[in-house]
Amino acid sequence: MSNKNSNTAKIIEVLNEARSMELCGITQYMNHHYKLDDEDYVKLAKEMKRIAIDEMKHAEAFAERIKDIDSNQEPTFDIKGTVIKGQKIDAIYTHDKNSEDETINKYNEFAKICRENNDVISATLFERIVTEEQEHLNYFDDIANHIKELGNSFLARQTDKD
Ligand SMILES: [Fe+2]
Ligand SMILES: [Fe+2]
Repeated sequence: MSNKNSNTAKIIEVLNEARSMELCGITQYMNHHYKLDDEDYVKLAKEMKRIAIDEMKHAEAFAERIKDIDSNQEPTFDIKGTVIKGQKIDAIYTHDKNSEDETINKYNEFAKICRENNDVISATLFERIVTEEQEHLNYFDDIANHIKELGNSFLARQTDKD
């Protein structure tokens, strides 16, 4: 619960904005998951699905925090950002890396806003999620580099069903 010094409206605003960003990420990563599956990059598709599910958990965590602060609030279903369809494999990983980077910057800013408004619980939630977004960024960056440096020899190994 928020204490009387906290600016509840501002905190709910940043939690909703973060949830909107997660809803965009979920939709984008599901799109990438199905595209990679269509192209038989089984291993890459499996990891993309796992990351889409991480973002679903984040969207739920932000909604749960909003409901904890004020049970009368309806967490947003708006999607913030653009979902791009039909990207080629080399574009997918650069795009997703950049979107994680933007998310990390935003959530660090939101954590700071929560702390300034005496809501340590929301600040800690943002900080916990930032560490997971950093793992996503590192993974996308690794794959983007493998595709750039190894090209088809790397991609050929992503089709094994093991
Ligand atoms: Fe997320
Ligand atoms: Fe992420």
